[in-house]
Amino acid sequence: MKDFAGKVAFITGGASGAGFGQAKVFSQAGCKIVIADIRQEPLDEALAYFRAQNAPAHAIRLDITDRAAYACAADEVEKVFGEPPQLLFNTAGVNSFGPVENSTYDDYDWLMGVNFWGVANGMQTFVPRMIKAGKGGYVVSTASVGGFQGSAVASIYSAAKAAVISLMESYRAGLAKYGIEVSVLCPANIRSNIAEAVKTRPAHLANTGYNESEEAIASLHSIYSHGMDPVVLAERTKQAMEAGKLYIIPYPEEKERLAQHFREIVDSIPPIESDPEGAKERTEALMNWAKDRGSIFSRGREG
Ligand code: NAI
Repeated sequence: MKDFAGKVAFITGGASGAGFGQAKVFSQAGCKIVIADIRQEPLDEALAYFRAQNAPAHAIRLDITDRAAYACAADEVEKVFGEPPQLLFNTAGVNSFGPVENSTYDDYDWLMGVNFWGVANGMQTFVPRMIKAGKGGYVVSTASVGGFQGSAVASIYSAAKAAVISLMESYRAGLAKYGIEVSVLCPANIRSNIAEAVKTRPAHLANTGYNESEEAIASLHSIYSHGMDPVVLAERTKQAMEAGKLYIIPYPEEKERLAQHFREIVDSIPPIESDPEGAKERTEALMNWAKDRGSIFSRGREG
């Protein structure tokens, strides 16, 4: 996508960090901005920023894990701007770290709830509306470089982000026919307020096996203070969208680590020439089977 002017952009987590950076950059590019966030005070402050610039913007308090509220938010956007968003940024996310073996069900429910289900809810809410509007569009979901590899202390967070990466690969393949492009942003460190994320944790999911003390929050703050400026990250994201890239990973320092990880995976597969498992015969048999029957998986609703 090259032209962003006049398009409605819906940004979850838009009151802070990466989401607020996206709101600034895409407002500058001429978008009408909707920032959706679970916290009211940062929302008010972010909205005041756009009001001061006379830039079209609207703020909605939304918990992205609440499906009914998400549908109301989508109705509100259509009421305010007269159409559904053409740009959707699934950016809101939360983290909490600790030994994987100490994880509780509440840790699972909160971290998967926001980081995975929040994105799924965004897709379920807006994709049908975008298809119906028939104008095409662009979805960017924020995962993490942590989503490419498991970790002893970021286990559920990494699993949620891995699911987001995979889901965006699927949507990219599925939505191209509607002119809707899809990317997945995989940042490393961002200078944001995510160290405070545990403060948005709902009371009914408060039972954690991790260290969420003020001390832990302070030490996370010092890590994130060395991260990428969210506006710079949003500019790199916009450039990657202009180029239509699936993966957006503007962190060169991550390249070798990821290369090693994927090399390890690929190297664990025996070479085809040795073919000790009868791979060629299996593949051939499957191809012949599919040729005879056609594929049931390629059918849409009408099929
Ligand atoms: P941030 O904390 O500054 O911004 C996230 C925003 O999401 C906050 O304003 C928060 O109130 C909002 N939010 C949290 N739960 C929500 C919910 N249930 N419904 C609606 N809004 C909710 O953090 P940051 O770093 O800007 O995070 C943005 C994305 O970047 C997240 O998906 C995060 O996982 C991802 N990320 C962050 C990295 C970092 O180093 N900070 C690294 C890699 C990925």
